[in-house]
Amino acid sequence: MCGIVGVVGNENATDILIQGLEKLEYRGYDSAGIFVAGKGAGSLVKSVGRIADLSAKVGDKLEGTAGIGHTRWATHGKPSEVNAHPHQSQTERLTLVHNGVIENYLEIKEKYLADHELKGQTDTEIAVHLMGRFVQEGLSTLEAFKKALHLIQGSYAFALMDAEDADTIYVAKNKSPLLIGLGDGYNMVCSDAMAMIRETSEYMEIHDKELVIVKKDSVQVMDYEGNAIERGSYIAELDLSDIGKGTYPYYMLKEIDEQPTVMRKLIQAYTDENGAVAVDSAIISAVKECDRIYIIAAGTSYHAGFASKMMLEELTGKPVELGIASEWGYGMPLLSQKPLFIFISQSGETADSRQVLVKVNELGFPSLTVTNVPGSTLSREASHTMILHAGPEIAVASTKAYTAQIATLAFLAKAVGEAMDNEKAKSFDLVHELSLVAQSIESTLSEKELIEGKVKELLETTRNAFYIGRGNDYYVAMEASLKLKEISYIQCEGFAAGELKHGTISLIEDGTPVLALISANPVIASHARGNVSEVVARGAQVLTIVEEGVEQEGDDIILNKVHPYLSSISMVIPTQLIAYYACLHRGLDVDKPRNLAKSVTVE
Ligand code: F6R
Repeated sequence: MCGIVGVVGNENATDILIQGLEKLEYRGYDSAGIFVAGKGAGSLVKSVGRIADLSAKVGDKLEGTAGIGHTRWATHGKPSEVNAHPHQSQTERLTLVHNGVIENYLEIKEKYLADHELKGQTDTEIAVHLMGRFVQEGLSTLEAFKKALHLIQGSYAFALMDAEDADTIYVAKNKSPLLIGLGDGYNMVCSDAMAMIRETSEYMEIHDKELVIVKKDSVQVMDYEGNAIERGSYIAELDLSDIGKGTYPYYMLKEIDEQPTVMRKLIQAYTDENGAVAVDSAIISAVKECDRIYIIAAGTSYHAGFASKMMLEELTGKPVELGIASEWGYGMPLLSQKPLFIFISQSGETADSRQVLVKVNELGFPSLTVTNVPGSTLSREASHTMILHAGPEIAVASTKAYTAQIATLAFLAKAVGEAMDNEKAKSFDLVHELSLVAQSIESTLSEKELIEGKVKELLETTRNAFYIGRGNDYYVAMEASLKLKEISYIQCEGFAAGELKHGTISLIEDGTPVLALISANPVIASHARGNVSEVVARGAQVLTIVEEGVEQEGDDIILNKVHPYLSSISMVIPTQLIAYYACLHRGLDVDKPRNLAKSVTVE
């Protein structure tokens, strides 16, 4: 969602803020702003559009030693300069940036700010006016902040500055990510460590409902009553090259290409020195002891859950149920006696998933988070974590995280199955099979030209399309269609191939693109071929993506055959490239599709 960065005690505050915002732009990118103080009166600059627009507007005229910045993904109020953060109190003494959603903002407005003139429509402006009102009534900035935090309900990460004290940033969070970066003679605050790795590798966590006073040489953590909290720092050696595009035109293409390496990294991470699969024994016990696995996730991560369901069920013997996080937040269905919840989340910050985890913790059930981001909220709050080892994923459209999620769950399924003496698990040589998957991905990646050509023929101008498949191919079709919709804006449905004839086939007309996914299960393949014939007979223009072993003359993209548990990984690769080229040929922004944000931290 939105991204926050702040720095105090550094001569290059403006540069640090702008560079930090560039790194956070993936979290939201409809408008941005910075407030810089420390040399003369504080200055506020805001702009609609990308960070490049803000940077051009800032130029080299803003000097200061402290400041806060924000990149926005609109929730309350349309993208505009007035709605862009930072926001200021009525007297302009206080300046605030915020990530999250304040649920009771209208109530606060009515009760406390009836006589205040607000410029925009955001909940954040109401929050800073509230704090400003308390300061005008005589409270110190700290006391005013605390009092407001007691009144505000909802999710937030706040960074607040007082024009009369440019040496301090006041910070608080609840259900939205924020952490402190400890520099040499200065300190920072940021939504994501990635935006601070140029400056520091030493970080400090902030927990929900904690208030932090950040100065250039001190960081004081306290609860909302003002009681001091001891908090150590930790070192995270992130690689700067991981977050650059290198020679790639877009992050998405770089991340697609990284997938064979990610598969190999996962082999290293989840095997021991003898090459045997190695997963934390506490996690294995948690799965062994449960009577049902509930996978909770959103979007692409939800699709990865589906793609792993059959494998998990067959290797662990535990039934697996999938839940859309935003739906399960309202209420749980009837649960089994001993459930285990698995949260799949690239970012580890998705608010929809987190609200389910909060309930799961209240109910006292065990949980496992499968995430790319160690130390993320979902990781910290779950009983166990498995890391995806995919490296930072910056393009909004998730690619390498999806394949890493399936591979990570394969290690889990294999480890549990072996521990339970499951014959299928014992004979499943995961390390070997995953190496073959890495090779298969490499071979698909070498066919980019062919895939680009097919996309030009089929998807350059169409308004709609279908992906169809059966079994696991259906789950891949769901993900493939999300990817295509998300970045090319082509309306696309991922459909169970056999279900089409029960109504939706009426949408097929002359030239409708239908992309059929057919993996090497002879029964499924022959039924899927039948469904392909049905759409061809109604004028569809078909593209087939087929695994070796069931290919036929005229098929468009042939993939190496891999183990059925892992075929979703290899099958999704051409569909990622299809989405990429469709977007490119339609002249759209690959890495930053409209209306979206990478990390969805609002419910
Ligand atoms: C699509 C995409 C989203 C995310 C979803 C959940 O390409 O990335 O659908 O998968 O917003 O995010 P995480 O995995 O961070 O919980």
